[in-house]
Amino acid sequence: MIQDKIDRYTAEIKAFATGKADELEAFRIKFLGTKGLIKNLFEEFKTVSPEEKRTFGKVLNEFKQFAEAKYQDLKEQFDSQPATESSQLDLTLPGDGMAVGSRHPLSLVRNEIVDIFKRLGFVVAEGPEIEDDWHNFSALNFPEEHPARDMQDTFFIKKGAGNDIALRTHTSSVQVRMMEAGKPPFRAIMPGRVYRNEAISARAHCFFHQVEGLYVDENVSFSDLKQTLYHFVQELYGEGTQVRFRPSYFPFTEPSAEMDVSCTICKGAGCNMCKYSGWVEILGCGMVDPNVLENCGIDSKKYTGFAFGMGIERITNLKYVIRDLRLFSENDVRFLGQFQTEVI
Ligand code: PHE
Repeated sequence: MIQDKIDRYTAEIKAFATGKADELEAFRIKFLGTKGLIKNLFEEFKTVSPEEKRTFGKVLNEFKQFAEAKYQDLKEQFDSQPATESSQLDLTLPGDGMAVGSRHPLSLVRNEIVDIFKRLGFVVAEGPEIEDDWHNFSALNFPEEHPARDMQDTFFIKKGAGNDIALRTHTSSVQVRMMEAGKPPFRAIMPGRVYRNEAISARAHCFFHQVEGLYVDENVSFSDLKQTLYHFVQELYGEGTQVRFRPSYFPFTEPSAEMDVSCTICKGAGCNMCKYSGWVEILGCGMVDPNVLENCGIDSKKYTGFAFGMGIERITNLKYVIRDLRLFSENDVRFLGQFQTEVI
């Protein structure tokens, strides 16, 4: 009886092989567990005649050792392998790369502009995109009948007697907020989004981005304005970039000018981007109109200042030769992925 079982179990144990931890554990429980088959054999052994005891004692012990050795062997194999479902796992393989995003070109250029002015001592200021008539128009010396105050040009949120609420049409509103809230000197750069009621096309959009600059102190002159902007352009587009100022008009600056740079694409030789003129307009500027200073509670006899405002899209188009404004807001990763990857 006992010998039969030992023979059967021995064959089964010899044939046993597994790559799975739960199967090995089942094997241990079946043969070596406290209620396992070997334990049963020992129980059975107690009941046999003394003569059989002599015959089987040694055989049984050897069988037990054999089963234990088999279990230990298999267990050692497991312990030397990584504790994973699949022993095929190669931990030396490189990992899957994480998809890393890229900075939006407008953010790249905005940061670059802001950094240049920060080095000149300008601080960064921001204001609300939903603005009242006073900050967007009246304080900036816009006459009552100015076309920008028309629904054609501005997105109004609420029309009220002298108290319209609109999406700001330019970042010049932040100048007003800054000057109202503090005392001169002011030296600030103000980036932000602005809105205009325009049909969307390759060349126009209903929202875009500007950077406003303001410098107010005693004895600030137009030559300070020119020198500051000249330096800015050398930093942004490289040494040797030419600038020219053309007389212009803004209600909030007097005198006013528009600044052109020598075309960054063709270096002035003439191309599509500069419409073969060699020059591209990049910003509006001027000396802060004394009326604006007074509207903000600043003594225009004592203080003078300059201001400028530029469209970030325009500057970006010139830098990266982008010809369709719509690309900036469509979030097409084929476009966005071409710009500097964020370093993390
Ligand atoms: N706010 C003007 C615009 O949107 C730009 C500007 C800013 C001009 C400051 C002069 C001074 O076109």
